[in-house]
Amino acid sequence: MPNAAITGWGVAVPDRVLTNQDLERMVETSDEWIVSRTGIRERRIVGANDSTTSLATDAARKAMEKAGCTADDVDLIVVATATPDDFLVSQSCLVQAEIGGSAAAFDVGAACAGFVTALAVATQFVNGGMYNRALVIGVDTLTRYIDYTDRGTCVLFGDGAGAVVIESSSEPRGLLSTELGADGAGHKHLYVPGWAQMVPESADIFPDSRPHLQMNGREVFRFAVQVMGDAALKSIEKAGLTLDQVDMLIPHQANARIISAAQRQLQLPEEKVWINVDRFGNTSAASVPIALAEAADAGVLKEGDNVVLVAFGAGLAWAAGLVRWGTDGTSPATPAS
Ligand code: ACO
Repeated sequence: MPNAAITGWGVAVPDRVLTNQDLERMVETSDEWIVSRTGIRERRIVGANDSTTSLATDAARKAMEKAGCTADDVDLIVVATATPDDFLVSQSCLVQAEIGGSAAAFDVGAACAGFVTALAVATQFVNGGMYNRALVIGVDTLTRYIDYTDRGTCVLFGDGAGAVVIESSSEPRGLLSTELGADGAGHKHLYVPGWAQMVPESADIFPDSRPHLQMNGREVFRFAVQVMGDAALKSIEKAGLTLDQVDMLIPHQANARIISAAQRQLQLPEEKVWINVDRFGNTSAASVPIALAEAADAGVLKEGDNVVLVAFGAGLAWAAGLVRWGTDGTSPATPAS
């Protein structure tokens, strides 16, 4: 059975920066509170010319360039997002409209756990032999649904996209194990009240009265601390590995304190945990692929490294996976013209 090596990766974030100092002028908060409670210093926010589609497309193009393929070589596009640009058309079809090709295309919804879940789904198609190459994108523009008078949520989120290309490989590369889970009973700890009622009239209500994300921060925090380490551990065990064989942890970047708790549970030194929550905040489904791409570009991921991806989010849902790093795919690419 083939594996699905990660052969390309890319990131796109909006140019607009929202700092803690900016937020101090908007709500009753302080840089000191935000940094000490979350680790966040600034985040990127979509502007008038950005959209979920533009960010996802930008990240996808970079990932394909890195992988040395074109959209014509891609058999499947899976986008993880909670904030698509269209209610009816899948975000993956909107991306395909931009990049071209005729790949199968559908979305996965698992909020911040979306990218790892989408990677698990796409990997099944490649491992099963149905497709050779897939584009997996995590993208969110959650700030469009944030109430910027609610200091409990508005300091946390940013926008962005991260993408990877996976392709069949005869080597044990890519996602080797997956641990997915959900607790739907807890969905009201983090959701967008009124969404179902609002959407049919969206043309009239957007943007002034669009529904906003609502969160019980303490409950989500408790849930996150519990599942991050547990799910990561299970994915390591399922891959037949032990903690001392883990080379890098790429956690969902929601809160530095949640990441620290997972790091302690996994007994990993700081240098084995990738953290960028200070610069991007919580970018939801984009968080893990942005961090993964940064780690890859920084050269800290070496051939054969065992990399743990782990995320949690609205649902409540979680997803973890053990990735064996290595960028050699065996799928045929389009010959250079
Ligand atoms: N600035 C200043 N004070 C604030 C702020 C702020 N931005 N936000 C809340 N406070 C106040 C509260 O009002 C409260 O005041 P009170 O004691 O007078 O009532 C006090 O700070 C403490 O509030 P807590 O909620 O207990 O603060 P906590 O230490 O739990 O931190 C936080 C809050 C950062 C939201 C934390 O609970 C958290 O990170 N939770 C997880 C959130 C998360 O990760 N969500 C994303 C999930 S992923 C997805 O799917 C989108």
